Parts: sequence; structure tokens; C-alpha cells
Amino acid sequence: MSLKSLTYTSLARLDLDVGELEAIHRTARAVNALEGITGILIFNGTHFLQIIEGAPMAIDELVERLRRDPRHSGIEVRDERPVKERSFPDWSMELVKVSASYFDAKDEVAGRLPATVAEPVKDRVFRMTEAISGTVSF
Ligand SMILES: Cc1cc2nc3c(=O)[nH]c(=O)nc-3n(C[C@H](O)[C@H](O)[C@H](O)COP(=O)(O)O)c2cc1C
Repeated sequence: MSLKSLTYTSLARLDLDVGELEAIHRTARAVNALEGITGILIFNGTHFLQIIEGAPMAIDELVERLRRDPRHSGIEVRDERPVKERSFPDWSMELVKVSASYFDAKDEVAGRLPATVAEPVKDRVFRMTEAISGTVSF
């Protein structure tokens, strides 16, 4: 079966609350389990960074739904490529909440990534986490 991985960032609706975030996560897990989609959803309080992986048609259809979802905007596809293996085989969608500053967020993300994530993917996650981070504060 051919597999594709897509990474995007987006801006969460300004007044998105915890209940809505939980609802997004619940739907994502339930639907992805049915669609054979796996991945990670990183939220830093203002922005999302998501990696989704699965059959190309399932990924394209999900991106269409994501583009119509008013709970976020400004979707930017940062990476899209065919892959041989999944980076997140055991996660129908894992939500990782991180700090706004990259200084903290990098460690928080690093502590959660499973061993199945190869170095280049890890690097991409860190780079994209930096891209959605606010000003670094010490
Ligand atoms: C940041 C974010 C991440 C999402 N991730 C997923 C996901 O991984 N899988 C999914 O099915 N829906 C996800 N959703 C929800 C979809 O946008 C959409 O609401 C859902 O798939 C149901 O689609 P429908 O209302 O057109 O039936 C996400 C929404 C947001 C805002």
C-alpha cells in the first residue's frame, strides 16, 4: 500500500477553548482510526503543527476537510512526500501541548516523540516547532 506524509502549520482560532481542542482531538482519533491515518498534532496555544500519514487519497481528503474547518486558518503545507514507513504507527493522532517559547517547546516535543521517528523527521518537527513559536524567552 502506498503511503504519504504531509506536514502543515496553521493558526488556531483566537478564542479556541480547551473543550474545542479536546473535541478536535477526539474526532481526529476516531476518524483517523477508521481511515488508516496516523500522526501527531502539536499545539502551542496559538498555532498547530500536524503531521498526518496514510493512503494518499485519505490524506488528500483530510486536507480538504482541514481547509474548511473554521477552528483554524492560514494552513501552510510545509512538507508532502511519499514514505515507505509510518513515523507514528501507534498514534491515530497524538495531541502534544507545548509551551509558546521554542526554548521549552523543543524539549517538550523531544520528550514525546516515539523511537519510530527517524532523525530527518525529528529535525523537521523541531524546525516546524520553531516556526510556530513565539519569541524565545529565557
Ligand atoms: C488543528 C486540527 C486538526 C485536525 N485533525 C484531524 C485529523 O487528524 N483527522 C480528522 O479526521 N479530522 C481532523 N480535524 C477535524 C477536521 O477538520 C474535520 O472537522 C473532521 O474531519 C470532520 O469532518 P466533517 O465535519 O467534514 O465530516 C482537525 C481539525 C483541526 C482544527
